[in-house]
Amino acid sequence: MSKTLLITGGAGFIGSHVVRLFVNKYPDYKIINLDKLTYAGNLENLTDIEDKDNYRFIKGDIVNSSFVENLFQIENIDAVIHLAAESHVDRSISNPIEFVQTNVIGTANLLNSARKSWKDYSEKCFYHVSTDEVYGALGETGLFTEETSYDPHSPYSASKASSDHFVRAYNDTYGLPIVISNCSNNYGPNQFPEKLLPLFFNNIINNKALPVYGNGSNTRDWLYVVDHAKAIDVVFHKGKDGETYNIGGHNEWKNLDLIKMMCALMDEKLNRTIGTSESLITFVTDRSGHDFRYAIDASKIEKDLGWKPSLQFKEGLSITLDWYMANQNWLDNITSGDYKTYYQQQYSKR
Ligand code: NAD
Ligand code: TYD
Repeated sequence: MSKTLLITGGAGFIGSHVVRLFVNKYPDYKIINLDKLTYAGNLENLTDIEDKDNYRFIKGDIVNSSFVENLFQIENIDAVIHLAAESHVDRSISNPIEFVQTNVIGTANLLNSARKSWKDYSEKCFYHVSTDEVYGALGETGLFTEETSYDPHSPYSASKASSDHFVRAYNDTYGLPIVISNCSNNYGPNQFPEKLLPLFFNNIINNKALPVYGNGSNTRDWLYVVDHAKAIDVVFHKGKDGETYNIGGHNEWKNLDLIKMMCALMDEKLNRTIGTSESLITFVTDRSGHDFRYAIDASKIEKDLGWKPSLQFKEGLSITLDWYMANQNWLDNITSGDYKTYYQQQYSKR
C-alpha cells in the first residue's frame, strides 16, 4: 500500500539506517526525512539513496510548531517514525534545556500536528523511537521489561521519558494510534564520535588517551544499528496500537571489557604490537549520575513480532571498526570544527 511516511531525525546515526532500509525496501512509500541538521545530523550518511524517487529531505526544526503544523497540512502524512532528538547523555548534563526543547516540546509538536491533521485514525501511526534509559539503572542482576517503572536519572533520559508519556497521553486522551519501542545502546557505522565506540576509535587512531569514566564497571547492552532498524520496520508494520516493545541485543558488556576487546581488535587491524591501544586507557572522573547497568528483556518483540538480533557482537564490532577505518574522511570532517571545542569542554578537566 502506498503511504506518506515522515521520518524525523533521518540524517542522524540510527535515523539514516532507518531511512535507508525503508527507502530501499518500500519503493511505494513516499518517504520524507525531516531533520534540523544539528551537529549530529549529516547528509553524508545518505548519499547512496539521496536521488531515489521515493525519498525527499526537508531541513526543519520540530521545535517550531507552525513549521511542523504546515508540514502536516501540505504533505498528507499518514505515519511518523520519530527519531529526531538530542541523544547524548553528557551533552544533556551540560545543556539540559536543549533536551527539553527538542525531545519534549518537539515530540509534543509532532503529536499535536498529527492529531489536528489526521481526520480519521484508520491506517495512521505515530511511532516514537525511545531508549531503555527511561527505566533507570539496574544493579548486578535483572532485566528491563515493558512493565518496568520509569525512573530516569539524566536530563537526557528524563526528556525521553517525558516524551514517551506524551505519546501515551495522546493515545489515551485522543485515541491517536501510537507505538513505542525502547532500545538498548546501538553501535555501528555513522555514529557521531561523542558516543563511546566511535570516540574511542578516533582516539586509538590518533594515539590519544581513552577516557574511561569511573572504574569502567558500568554495563551496557549493545545492539548493531541495522538490527535496530530492522526491529523498527517490524514494530512499525506489525506492532499493536498503544503497545511498547523493548529491543535489545542479549549482549551485555562491562565498559572496560568491551574497551579491551576493541583495543585488541584495533591492534590487529592497525598491525600494532598487542597492548598498544590498551595502554591508552585512562581512568577519569565519573559521569554525574552515571547509570550502573542497562539490560533488556526483549522476549515480547521476539515472541509477538518474530524479531531477533542477527549479528554476533564480535562480528558486528569488527564490521563497525572496518567501516570507520574505510571512512576516515567522514570522521575527519566531523572532528575538525566544533568537535574540538566539545572535546575540550567535556574532557580537559576530567
Ligand atoms: P543522533 O544524535 O545521531 O541523531 C539525532 C538526529 O536528530 C540528528 O540528525 C539531528 O540533526 C536531528 N535533530 C536533533 N534535533 C532536532 C530538531 N529540533 N528538529 C529536527 N531534527 C533534529 O541520535 P541517534 O543515536 O541516531 O538516536 C536516534 C533516536 O533513537 C533518538 O530519539 C534516541 O533517543 C533514540 N535511541 C538512541 C539509542 C542509541 O544508542 N544511540 C538507543 C536507543 C534509542
Ligand atoms: P555512551 O556511548 O555515552 O552511551 P550511554 O551513556 O547512553 O549509555 O556511553 C556508553 C558507556 O561508556 C557509558 O557507561 C559511559 C561510558 N563512557 C566512557 O567511559 N567514556 C566516554 O568517553 C564515553 C563517551 C562513555
